[in-house]
Amino acid sequence: MKKTVNIDWGKLGFNYIKTDLRYVSTWRDGEWDKGILTEDNKLTISEGSTALHYGQQCFEGLKAYRRKDGKIQLFRPDENAKRLNSSCRRILMPEVPEEKFIDACTQVVKANEAYVPPYGTGATLYLRPFVIGVGDNVGVKPASEYIFCVFCVPVGPYFKGGMTPVNFIISEYDRAAAFGTGKVKVGGNYAASLYAHKQATNKGFADCIYLDPKTHTKIEEVGAANFFGITKDNKFITPDSPSILPSITKYSLMYIAENYLEMKVEERDVFVDNLSEFKEAGACGTAAVITPIGGIEYKEKLHVFHSETEVGPITKKLYDTLYGIQFGDVEAPEGWIVEIE
Ligand code: PLP
Ligand code: COI
Repeated sequence: MKKTVNIDWGKLGFNYIKTDLRYVSTWRDGEWDKGILTEDNKLTISEGSTALHYGQQCFEGLKAYRRKDGKIQLFRPDENAKRLNSSCRRILMPEVPEEKFIDACTQVVKANEAYVPPYGTGATLYLRPFVIGVGDNVGVKPASEYIFCVFCVPVGPYFKGGMTPVNFIISEYDRAAAFGTGKVKVGGNYAASLYAHKQATNKGFADCIYLDPKTHTKIEEVGAANFFGITKDNKFITPDSPSILPSITKYSLMYIAENYLEMKVEERDVFVDNLSEFKEAGACGTAAVITPIGGIEYKEKLHVFHSETEVGPITKKLYDTLYGIQFGDVEAPEGWIVEIE
């Protein structure tokens, strides 16, 4: 008999729930072992692990989606594998071969099938692959051993309200340096963001928006998501900068805007003192999906885009198309979907 779990899928937020099995593989003496699935959600590592002291670690986030026909699919896992490896290269960790990454994700989804939310609930199974430097060490240098792990958690919306607009505030802090690690997904960027995030939520905002670290004049990231704006002449605009994490959702939306919605697309500077060029704006990412931005507070003034309560029509179309592709209702571009067999 198939296992069932007692979860109120419609009420899920973005919180940890222990699922049945996770994948763990170790790199030692120059190679990864085969990897295992384990019930144990604790990792035992040396007190000298570089991940603990020097932040030698990186992670990914991707989702498994339940289709109308009951089958399960992953969205562009090869892109997550590539980005994980660009993070690994940046902080001198061994890469995880793309096939191993996709195989690990597939094993974890299959082993936790009961936790893949039903079609129609909007909920998904979030996969969290990560690599950490471990082993006995104390100096500032790359670790001698590494662990690659993938666990999963059923999730609902990341920002409260899902597809209802939320407000953000511009932060005076940076999450990453101009030529630092902003374009890779390493934990240090997120540690650096916690204080600014807390300040924003204390003031009642969903999160903060980071400006470019060099000049503090251009929009970079919306918390843990990328920014996009729709101009009055219907162009999809998204910032270009070496310190932004290259969002897979953002590049997918650029493709969708151009090829499904016949919009013009530009990746270029977005100046914070020129927000009135946009009639709609949004945050996009795996966890955030598309979260409409109601308004942005900058220098104590709130700039409202389409509305603080209603989603703009273009944001809605982008969302419906992306959501449709991810849940298998809209035909996907070649290579975007990996069905779990
Ligand atoms: N920007 C940051 C800082 C993130 O943490 C994420 C999440 O992964 C994103 C953007 C969105 O990237 P993606 O669409 O690949 O999930
Ligand atoms: C994601 O969208 O996958 C993220 O990593 C965002 C956040 C949960 C860190």
